[in-house]
Amino acid sequence: MSVPASSERFLAKARELAVDEVMLDLEDSVAPEAKPAARELATRALASGGWDGKLVAVRVNDVTTPWAYQDVIAVVEGAPGAVDSLILPKVSDPGAVVLLDVLLSQLERAAGLEQGRIGIEAQIEDAAGLAAVEAIAAASRRLVCLVFGPADFMASIGMRSLTVGGQPAGYAFDAHHYPLMRMLVAAKARGLQAIDGPYAKIHDADGLRAAASSAAALGYDGKWVLHPGQVGIVNDAFTPAAGDYQRAVRILDAYGRATSVDRRGAVMLDGEMIDEASRKLALAIVAKGNAAGL
Ligand code: GLV
Ligand code: MG
Repeated sequence: MSVPASSERFLAKARELAVDEVMLDLEDSVAPEAKPAARELATRALASGGWDGKLVAVRVNDVTTPWAYQDVIAVVEGAPGAVDSLILPKVSDPGAVVLLDVLLSQLERAAGLEQGRIGIEAQIEDAAGLAAVEAIAAASRRLVCLVFGPADFMASIGMRSLTVGGQPAGYAFDAHHYPLMRMLVAAKARGLQAIDGPYAKIHDADGLRAAASSAAALGYDGKWVLHPGQVGIVNDAFTPAAGDYQRAVRILDAYGRATSVDRRGAVMLDGEMIDEASRKLALAIVAKGNAAGL
């Protein structure tokens, strides 16, 4: 859940929502003139707690702005230990991630925090970032995920649509498939999570469901939401269907029996051949289902 840090009301509301992570935004949802005040509100909201059970992240401004270094210093020093990760937007080369990594190491040392405790989530949201995504994914051990930024990405490549995260009219296929798949492969090659960005048409439940289901089907680990009304739809899309979960459990049982009791590595289950790779597919579905409380 992305929350503009300039809004005390939204910050308070975010604590009650059934989301995995809250992101206090200092970047594009905060007007330039409001940035210093938002930085203070974010720091106060972090320090006052109430985020139990959720990951807490802050999106700082990108490294080409005059605000980035102050954002980082303010939230890490102002609320030591409160931030799980910083979201770094508009990462178009690995150097930006390295810069944040080095700054965080200094701050952790000065604050007496465990080295490497604060993670980095890198947003891939322009053509240069996508072209360098493999190097970006390898830039720091602090990286926990890559996040696709559809709004900036669509603007960067000149995609003809005004709906963030939606499909442009006049193109018959999925216009987001290539960047999503490329970023997903780069993330998974480095053991990182892959997170899809926002869908901005808040009251278009069908459009959100389609975008979220499609990212989940590809293998994405989650998706941003911008409004409480989007939470249930996105959580549902990323929760395996009950039938898939049950089948995955059956595959694990059957394959466990086949390999340990019958000493066979390939067997039939419900008319389908299953082997070691099927076990891995099933494990992934069971893990996501368990994480969602199935
Ligand atoms: C998010 O930051 C986006 O650009 O979509
Ligand atoms: Mg963006």
